[in-house]
Amino acid sequence: MDGEIVAIYPGSFDPVTNGHLDIIERGTGIFDRVIVAVLVNVAKNPLFTLEERLEMLRDATSRWPNVVLDTFDGLLVSYAAERQARVILRGIRAVTDFEYEFQMASMNRRLAPDIETVFMVPAEAYSYLSSSLVKEVVSLGGSVAGLVPSMVEQFLHVRIQRKDSGKQV
Ligand code: PNS
Repeated sequence: MDGEIVAIYPGSFDPVTNGHLDIIERGTGIFDRVIVAVLVNVAKNPLFTLEERLEMLRDATSRWPNVVLDTFDGLLVSYAAERQARVILRGIRAVTDFEYEFQMASMNRRLAPDIETVFMVPAEAYSYLSSSLVKEVVSLGGSVAGLVPSMVEQFLHVRIQRKDSGKQV
């Protein structure tokens, strides 16, 4: 559609949390289309494969008709230009996120001045939530109910238990 505002919401999503979904939902209310773009080459050794991360995202985002899932590799701004997206959407939880996000937004603007980074703040209940904390809590036997979709909870338990049983062999 002409004049349609497309936003890219990029990330590792290893795995998707309710904090990510909160930002996606806010994005769907503002932009015509939100492309959730999963980074293919995550340097930090992901727990879940690309296909698993996509499967959890597919299940969690199917309720929003203007959300599209995709994967990307290489420079984010090149991918955004390819998808004719004018916006990069990022969530900011606390001041500690700011420096990294500011650096990325500034570098992305230098590389592609026409693409605007838009920051959104998730609901307070998710202000401390991150994929890495979720993985840590589950690996130490804690509950993450209410912080991730139930499918993600199941995936985490299966993966982390499997890892543990692997260690015992
Ligand atoms: O979920 P994350 O790990 O916070 O997402 C980080 C992501 C994917 C947004 C960032 O690593 C990224 O944009 N990677 C693509 C490579 C790139 O464009 N690098 C230059 C950014 S300034």
